[in-house]
Amino acid sequence: MPQTIQGFSRLNKEEKIDWLTSNFLSDSKNATSILKQYWNSDAKLQQLHDEFIENTVTNYYLPLGIAPNFVINNKTFAIPMTIEESSVVAAASKAAKFWMSRGGFKAEILGTQKIGQVHFSYTGDAQKLSSFFELTKPILLNDLKTLTASMEKRGGGITSIELINKNDQLANYFQLHVTFETLDAMGANFINSCLEQLAESWQREYTNYPVFSESNAEMVVIMSILSNYVPQCVVRAEVCCAVSELTEADGIDPEVFATKFVQAVCIAEVEPYRAVTHNKGIMNGIDAVVLATGNDFRAVEAGAHAYAARNGSYSSLTHATIENGIFRFWIEIPLALGTVGGLTKLHPLVKLNLEILGNPSAPQLMEIIAVAGLAQNFGALKSLTTTGIQKGHMKMHLMNMLNQLEATDTEKSKAIHFFKSNKVTHSAVDSFIKNLRQN
Ligand code: MEV
Repeated sequence: MPQTIQGFSRLNKEEKIDWLTSNFLSDSKNATSILKQYWNSDAKLQQLHDEFIENTVTNYYLPLGIAPNFVINNKTFAIPMTIEESSVVAAASKAAKFWMSRGGFKAEILGTQKIGQVHFSYTGDAQKLSSFFELTKPILLNDLKTLTASMEKRGGGITSIELINKNDQLANYFQLHVTFETLDAMGANFINSCLEQLAESWQREYTNYPVFSESNAEMVVIMSILSNYVPQCVVRAEVCCAVSELTEADGIDPEVFATKFVQAVCIAEVEPYRAVTHNKGIMNGIDAVVLATGNDFRAVEAGAHAYAARNGSYSSLTHATIENGIFRFWIEIPLALGTVGGLTKLHPLVKLNLEILGNPSAPQLMEIIAVAGLAQNFGALKSLTTTGIQKGHMKMHLMNMLNQLEATDTEKSKAIHFFKSNKVTHSAVDSFIKNLRQN
């Protein structure tokens, strides 16, 4: 049975690998060699990666691809995407090219406000708490000044603090609901530091307030944390063109294609089973750019799905209409992103990717990433409503299958040629390679 261990984090990297491979891996020598194969030969660069997290044993590679030809607000972009799924970059590139000659993508920011909360319980009179809050607010804001000064100088900071009574949902539950403008920073550390200071000041002022010290009312701060639900930090991206311009849809009449496409979006608006997959496809594009730019994809995922369910039923993040012969397709999505802080200056590839994107501000990056999501969804729906998804997907997956069969370069190029005009399935690829090897 594998061993447990005390003080694993204090072992050096070699010792960690020795312990890991001898306890959990059957061929410890081979496992060690695989882990070490992924170390970077530049010791300084490797150390940088080692120090991103605790207990690093190696690096985990994902491909970084480029989707060129994105025209966004009349400016051209090549979008870096980090993703393992074979068809994502190809689909994004194809959609970018399609819209490049139809006016490109238009994007606009609808809001950039972020939220944080101090959650607390209070057992006394709600009216007294409310008066205390109004009286104390200037003191709370003043205490926060050292933390907010530099953000305020640049035009950001705390934009509001509200006391919210949540008693109807949970007995004695109240919160200080705080709104932030964090400019080009994702702002998680800034927001959490502000909230913890706020909680401390709130507790101190409460304890010193004579009205409360004389009553039996109790106030306990439960926790202080930002929210990843950011329905006021939202971007909208759109494409539109005359229905008659929707050619290239695999020989299908543009009217028929546009109608089917809009119906597919409507289905995702009303049917949660479909909406989840529909939005997953959007997130294929979103996450890939979020990762490539060193942003927090878990935060973005959580916020996007909560937003998709904001009206009480999980629904599509994109929408489409045909009006007066014009096809319009758009996305509205909350994106809490940063282009300063975090990994942005630290990870050489993140730095490079941001430079490829023209070193955008956080709102500009929101626009680019929303466009990547919309493009991805366009690609998926275009395939789904015409050829079906598997044709393109299996073509892209062909290389993975060939690699699994350890095909040589010659075998690969023969297979790619053959499967240009033949259906890709696991058994077809398997027989094709077997046949090649027999002859
Ligand atoms: C696969 O990763 C994503 C799709 O399923 C999205 C969709 O169905 O819209 C193709």
